[in-house]
Amino acid sequence: MFEKFEPPPEDPIIQLIGIIRNDPRPEKIDMGVGVFMNDHGQTPVLSVVRKAEELLHAQQTTKAYVGVAGNETFNSEIIRLAFGDSADMQRTRGIQTPGGCGALRMLSDMLYRVAPDRKVWVTDPTWGNHYPIFRGSGFEVDSYPYLDWNTRTVDIDRMMSGLSTLGQGDIVVFHACCHNPSGAELSPDDWDEIARLASQNGFFPFFDMAYQGFGDSLQSDAYSIRKMAREVEAMVVASSCSKNFGLYRERTGCAMLVGESAATADVARAQLLNTARSSYSMPPDHGAALVAMILADPQLRHEWEEELRTMRERILGLRSRMSLALRETSGTPDWDFIADHRGMFSLLVLDKQQVERLRTDHAVYCVAGGRINIAGLKNADEIQRFADALVAVTR
Ligand SMILES: Cc1ncc(COP(=O)(O)O)c(C=O)c1O
Repeated sequence: MFEKFEPPPEDPIIQLIGIIRNDPRPEKIDMGVGVFMNDHGQTPVLSVVRKAEELLHAQQTTKAYVGVAGNETFNSEIIRLAFGDSADMQRTRGIQTPGGCGALRMLSDMLYRVAPDRKVWVTDPTWGNHYPIFRGSGFEVDSYPYLDWNTRTVDIDRMMSGLSTLGQGDIVVFHACCHNPSGAELSPDDWDEIARLASQNGFFPFFDMAYQGFGDSLQSDAYSIRKMAREVEAMVVASSCSKNFGLYRERTGCAMLVGESAATADVARAQLLNTARSSYSMPPDHGAALVAMILADPQLRHEWEEELRTMRERILGLRSRMSLALRETSGTPDWDFIADHRGMFSLLVLDKQQVERLRTDHAVYCVAGGRINIAGLKNADEIQRFADALVAVTR
């Protein structure tokens, strides 16, 4: 049986984790891995999560199954967090999933059941796991223009003209905020135009929201979703609590849908539950139980929002200090875009040799193409070392 296998292509980000771990140089800077790090280089358990864990420990009396849809308090809280008051709650449904990836895959599998001939469109560039997830369901996947590779901002004209060719046969994947890998953001005006186009031309919006609260605020990061929900009859959202609750390994996410009517939303949810039942059966409980407690309790929720604000402000502060250091070191405004980007990542657009030289000559790690995790920098010394290294390899 197994002798027929060829090794699968390696995931470059997973591969990078091993390479960084094996580098013995103590001064190494890890800007490759996609987790938030504080100024000690740690990814700590949020203190509000610790509190909720203690409460859960005291309250939980059984480990019996919860159910295919997971924690229903979690589902309704996450729906409210994403949609605010934009969507008609009579037509909105959600199920708890193992992380954002579980949500992406379950929604994709569900859509493939009803629309296997549609094509899925992702941004160019996009997060590396989008292609395998949608292809894994059976969809053909292609890309639409997103990034202006020179300015590292969104090429809105090319994006809109790409989207204007799409219609009823298409599913369009959007990053709700904090675009991964580029960091380049769409403005509220851009989203207004995109939502208008979706409503006019009939392509189906599929949102991936993995960083709500990491951009500007919980509210403004959801503008895209809320605007779309007001314009179209049906859409889906895959949301992740990995980053904003720091629950990475607990695999906590939510697959949400808005249907044309309460009846179609119910049937779509039943299909979603059916796809889940035939893969992992039921989602893990722990992370979602914590999120449900935190969001439903005003005091815990306030503490969470403050901790989230601290994470966001660390990233925003690093962004402005980095772009300033790069402006001074390079003597050019070429890297100013880093301050305008949002979320954990910026795509520097580097070639293979430049990424290699950062690694070998400067012990600075980023993902191929030059995706950096801003939160990988600990202090002023590292910011300057990074600026020196980047200027040296790009001069
Ligand atoms: C764009 C994007 N979508 C989805 C996810 C899914 O995250 P998880 O499955 O860890 O919740 C991530 C995580 O890195 C991401 O960057």
